[in-house]
Amino acid sequence: MLIDRRFAERIKKINPSSTLAITSKAKKLKAEGKDVVNFAAGEPDFDTPDFIKEAAIQAIKEGFTKYTPTTGTPELKKLICEKFKKENQLDYAPEQIVVSCGAKHSIFNALFVLVDKDNEVLIPCPYWVSYPEMVKLCEGKARFLKTSPENCFKITPQDLKRNINEKTKILILNSPSNPSGAVYSREELEALASICIKNKVFVISDEIYEKIIFDGLKHASIASLGKDIYDLTVTINGLSKAYSMTGWRIGYLGGPPDIVQAISRLQDHSTSNPASISQKAAVAALKSDSDFCKKSCQEFQRRRDYLVSRLKEFKKLNYVLPGGAFYIFCGIAKTGMDSFTLASRLLDEEFVALIPGNSFGRDDYVRISFATSLSQIETGLDRIKQWLEKQV
Ligand SMILES: Cc1ncc(COP(=O)(O)O)c(C=O)c1O
Repeated sequence: MLIDRRFAERIKKINPSSTLAITSKAKKLKAEGKDVVNFAAGEPDFDTPDFIKEAAIQAIKEGFTKYTPTTGTPELKKLICEKFKKENQLDYAPEQIVVSCGAKHSIFNALFVLVDKDNEVLIPCPYWVSYPEMVKLCEGKARFLKTSPENCFKITPQDLKRNINEKTKILILNSPSNPSGAVYSREELEALASICIKNKVFVISDEIYEKIIFDGLKHASIASLGKDIYDLTVTINGLSKAYSMTGWRIGYLGGPPDIVQAISRLQDHSTSNPASISQKAAVAALKSDSDFCKKSCQEFQRRRDYLVSRLKEFKKLNYVLPGGAFYIFCGIAKTGMDSFTLASRLLDEEFVALIPGNSFGRDDYVRISFATSLSQIETGLDRIKQWLEKQV
């Protein structure tokens, strides 16, 4: 008998990560000894602080290596509640928290319990690559909300209103944003919240870059703006970007009790708890003063300032000043190239790796990550500048 090797419909629709083509090629070139400047990184280039590593080593030595409660240890959940209260003015009880294997997992869990077949999920464009694919996995439909550089890639209340219909279930917000660095002000969030409340639209608020924010801007959590929006919002956060802990896989969410209970059931039967050792490391991170986060934020701002001071000289690129995260989204329309062509050629000809904007829904842009040293940024920009000047 023949083996039926057809895969489930739901996986057939999922695109491979479009950033992979460039990043794996960049790695290959580096392994061959080429001097590659990496502007493609999606993670801080700093090491995880030693005190966090020590806490994990201690956990192993003490045999803290078994299952924990599915949604996270009481110790970690208590610290997360305190963090939400102190930094985000959000009252979540420990029963309203689920700790998962990275913020990506938290977002997927939230979508999985909320999205039904053919529900629409509103995603401002440019967007983080995984949102649309996750929506597809949940059998929902992504509806993209176009934004403009003139409005710093943020949606307006009119954009939101115009796109809501009877199928709309969720709005995904990401501030500070990957890839644009856009930061929504409290007032902007209030305007969006009132439309969501009026139309009973849930919000998944991805705040993973919260601590990387520049120019004294203040991060605001949409769920903190009132009871009605609190009841409709799942707040996502994690340790990956703030504490340079991408490999430890700790993310978490807070939300209304009914949604969180459903997510807890899902996690019970899918992944169970995130790694016990990583949870101990997360406890050490959340107990620490904010010194590490502040210093890394200052370093990112220094790099951003240098980058934009240089980009001003680039006649063929335009950009919007990122208010947070560690990316700058550069318009390439004047080069006459699409984003994949430009990224591939830059890598082949100048050994500079950056991410084509088509991965984020904008083929007329590329994303430059400044999660790399100032000297690498300088070298990379010199190469891009010379290369662009050679193009007619
Ligand atoms: C916008 C955004 N959300 C979520 C994540 C996922 O974070 P984690 O590594 O904690 O899963 C990323 C990672 O790149 C991101 O850019």
